Amino acid sequence: MTEQRVLAPSPLASLGDHLAAGGGRGLDAARKLGPLGIIDHVEAAGLRGRGGAGFPTGRKWRTVGENLSAVVPPTVVVNAAEGEPGTFKDRAILRANPYQVLEGALVAATAVGADRVVLALKASFTTELARVRDAILEVRAAGWTDGIDLAVVEGPSHYLYGEETALLEVVAGRQPFPRIAPPFRQGVDVVGDISTVAEVTMAGPANPTAAPPTLVNNVETLANVPGILAEGPDWYRSLGTPESPGTIVCTVTGRTRRHGVAEFAMGTPLRQVIEEVGGGTDPGERVVAVMSGVANPLLPASLLDTPVTYEAMQDAGSGLGSAGFIVFDDATDLVAVAHGVSRFLAVESCGQCTPCKQDGRTIAERLDRIRQSEADEHDLAEVEDRLTSVIVGARCYLANQHQLVVESILRLFADQVAAHVAGGVASAEVELIAPIVDLRDGRAVLDEGHFDKQADWNVGEADSGQAPADRMDQRRGDPAEA
Ligand SMILES: Cc1cc2nc3c(=O)[nH]c(=O)nc-3n(C[C@H](O)[C@H](O)[C@H](O)COP(=O)(O)O)c2cc1C
Ligand code: SF4
Repeated sequence: MTEQRVLAPSPLASLGDHLAAGGGRGLDAARKLGPLGIIDHVEAAGLRGRGGAGFPTGRKWRTVGENLSAVVPPTVVVNAAEGEPGTFKDRAILRANPYQVLEGALVAATAVGADRVVLALKASFTTELARVRDAILEVRAAGWTDGIDLAVVEGPSHYLYGEETALLEVVAGRQPFPRIAPPFRQGVDVVGDISTVAEVTMAGPANPTAAPPTLVNNVETLANVPGILAEGPDWYRSLGTPESPGTIVCTVTGRTRRHGVAEFAMGTPLRQVIEEVGGGTDPGERVVAVMSGVANPLLPASLLDTPVTYEAMQDAGSGLGSAGFIVFDDATDLVAVAHGVSRFLAVESCGQCTPCKQDGRTIAERLDRIRQSEADEHDLAEVEDRLTSVIVGARCYLANQHQLVVESILRLFADQVAAHVAGGVASAEVELIAPIVDLRDGRAVLDEGHFDKQADWNVGEADSGQAPADRMDQRRGDPAEA
C-alpha cells in the first residue's frame, strides 16, 4: 500500500484531528490564490474525476468558470450517491474524514465563485449522513464557510441517482431521470421546461441573465483537492503516472477471502491490489476475471498485472471506472454474472430511451434462460442482436454499460455460454449484482432487496410493464429536503 492521501488510515474524530494532520492548509492556500490560481494548480496536478469517467477536473472547473451567469452564482454539488455495484470507496472516505471532502468542496466553490455547496447522499446512508452533518457544524463554527452555504440532500436508492444530470434532478426535487444537457450547460437552477434543455442558452458574457451552470464532482475527486493546494502539483504528481497522477481508492469484493477498501498509488498492478486487499481467492480456486463495477468490459486473468491507471486499463480492453473490482474465480458461472449485470441494468434503466429499457429487459430475460440451460440458439442470437440496438438514442451511459459488460462476457467466456445453450451443464445459481450497503468485518453486504425491485421501480408488487419515466408522474415536485 502507499502513502495515505485520501483515505485516512483510521477515522478522524473531529475537525481538530483534521487540522492536526495538516488539514485546512489547502483552503487557506486556495483563498490566497483566487479562482484562476486554484484552477491552474488543479490542472497542473492532472487530477482526473474519480466518479468513473476520469474527466480532467481542472478543465471542468475552468469550463464552469467561463460560463458563469452575471446574475446567479453557480452551485457545487458533491456526488456522494455511490451506487455502483462493487464500490464502497466514497462512503469509506466520508466515514474516515468528511472534513477533507468539505475542504475540497469549499476550494471548488472558491474556484468557480459558488455561494452554495450541496452534498448529495442517499437517504439510506445514515452513518455517512450523520458524519457529514456533524462535520458541517464543525467547519461552520470554525469559520471555514466564508459565506458559502453547505447543505445536504437525501436522495433515493436508484442507481441513476449517481448519474450527474439525474443527481441535479433530485437536488431540484424530481426523480433521477437523466437530462440531455450537461451540468455546465444547465445546472440545478433550471430555467424553462427540462424537456427542452437541449436548447438551453449557455450563461456567459453574451447571455448575462442565463441560468448558472453547476459543478458536479465525486467525493474522492474533491478529497484529492486539499493536498494539491497545500503541497502543490509536483507533490501530487510524485505518485502515479503522467496521465493518471496521484492515488486511487480501490474496493475489492467478490470471490476473495476478504473484502475491503484501500488507497494505492496509480500504476500499482491490479494483481497486487487484489492480493493486498482481498488476500487471494478461496483455497484451490484461481482468479479468472475481474469486473470494474458494471461499467467496463471484464478483464481476464491473463491481464491481471495491468497497472491500475486510466490508460493501462483502457489499453487492456477494459476501463478503470470507479475502481470497484469484483473478482470472479474458477467456480464462478460467468453466464450467471452476465445475467446478474443485465438484470441490474435493465431494472435500473429509467426508460426515457425505449431501446435501453426494452432491449435491456429482453437481454436480461434471454440471459436468464441461458443461465438455466433452458435456452437455444435463438435466445443467444436475440441477445447478440439486442446488444447492438440497446444503445440507440441513449441519453446517458447506462445503455453502453449494458452492451460493454455483456458483450465482453459472451466473448471471453464463449465456452461457458455455449455449454449452457447446448444444455450440457446444469442450471447456474442466480448471481446477485447489486450495490454494497455496508462493509462489515471484511465482508461486503450486498443489497439483497434488489431482487424484489421491478423494472418499473416498484418494490414487491407485480411489474406493471411500464417504464419508470412513464409511470412516475413526478418530473416536478417540491425541492428535496436540504
Ligand atoms: C448510470 C451512472 C451512474 C453513476 N453513478 C455515479 C455515482 O454513484 N457517483 C459518482 O460520483 N459518479 C457517478 N456517475 C458518474 C457521474 O455521472 C459523473 O461523471 C461524476 O459525478 C463526475 O464527477 P467527477 O468528474 O469528479 O468524476 C455515474 C454515471 C452513470 C452513467
Ligand atoms: S440510456 Fe437508459 S438509463 Fe439512460 S436516460 Fe436513457 S433510458 Fe434512462
